[in-house]
Amino acid sequence: MTTSTTDEFQRAIDTITPIWAELLKSEPELVSESTDFFKAGGHSLTAMLLVTRVGRELGKTVPLFALVEHPTLAEFVAYVLRSEEPVKIVEPPAPDGSSSQTERLLRYNEPDRSETRNKRFERYYAAAMGSAAHGEFCRQVYGDNFGQHGMADSAQIDRMLAMLTPKEGDTILDLGCGYGLISRYIAEKTGANVVGVDLSASAIEYANRLAESDSRLRFHVMDARDLRFPPGTFTHIVSFDTIYYAPSLEGLLRRFQEIGTEALRLGIVRTFPLRTFTKETWSPDRTELATLLTKLFGGYEVVDLSREENEHWRNKVTVLESLREQFVAEGSEELFDFRYTEATYEAGIEQFRYMFVSRHP
Ligand SMILES: C[S@@+](CC[C@H](N)C(=O)[O-])C[C@H]1O[C@@H](n2cnc3c(N)ncnc32)[C@H](O)[C@@H]1O
Repeated sequence: MTTSTTDEFQRAIDTITPIWAELLKSEPELVSESTDFFKAGGHSLTAMLLVTRVGRELGKTVPLFALVEHPTLAEFVAYVLRSEEPVKIVEPPAPDGSSSQTERLLRYNEPDRSETRNKRFERYYAAAMGSAAHGEFCRQVYGDNFGQHGMADSAQIDRMLAMLTPKEGDTILDLGCGYGLISRYIAEKTGANVVGVDLSASAIEYANRLAESDSRLRFHVMDARDLRFPPGTFTHIVSFDTIYYAPSLEGLLRRFQEIGTEALRLGIVRTFPLRTFTKETWSPDRTELATLLTKLFGGYEVVDLSREENEHWRNKVTVLESLREQFVAEGSEELFDFRYTEATYEAGIEQFRYMFVSRHP
């Protein structure tokens, strides 16, 4: 253990107070050194987020029990400053047993894992739009019921469209379109034609029914690893939470170039669960995606959506808990469990989320 100076203690209090307040949904002025995290409304999920974020800010490993045993702000900060442990952020094991989400996502691309994942998506798409409880869940979490499986709400979609400015006569590819309701929203909002592709046959069956009443829409069951379109088809390619499943990001972006026009622009939003980075070393500019957008598309603009992302997962947990009885009453327990298991896991981990929009050529 080391001893801390009064200055160091005060600096740490100043750094931690806003995090403490944010997680307690309180104002920083209402948090004092004697505020007890749990008595002020903190629970196990917010506690996990707090120790992760404090560890990152102060460059220390902070075990959860430190907060349980030192629940006031002053006690907790004093404990963390005394601790000599260097930063090492430990993630809880994922529901599928893998020890980090990075590992979990990477392993998803192994053939046996992608089969399991695709079956899960298929079961999800076969059930979600038939569930009134799930529809209500989407409306409360995302603002609209598009049967979303990703994390982009309507505000994020609007933000991307405002940066890409597609217009009538343009043709947009929506990679990983799910039910196609986001694609239809984009067509209605911009007047552009939208082609959606997804691996899930159930999702595309639903989407094709949308296309029957809107000639701007087309959908195909298609694998992102084998995009079959003539050269120069698309003016824009957008992808909401699907790029994870491309084993070779460079291969995918090069294929985008082939099927895009000269003026092709990309809008990609994704979460980066790379919690081994510290705040000092982490930056969206260090991602492989950023490097490739610079190399192949001449640059990019990026929007930091990390705060929204962390709130998104916590909100999902709260909304699901409030709708649990409705899911059970309509016989949608499996759907509830699928979403709840994922949401409680993700809400316990700090997430980085960025929207990348490639530069105008
Ligand atoms: C997290 S969901 C996002 C769906 C939708 N964009 C949204 O925001 O709600 C990922 C989607 O990618 C699809 N997907 C997964 N692997 C794919 C692949 N190799 N090719 C095409 N789609 C894929 C899944 O079926 C699923 O619809």
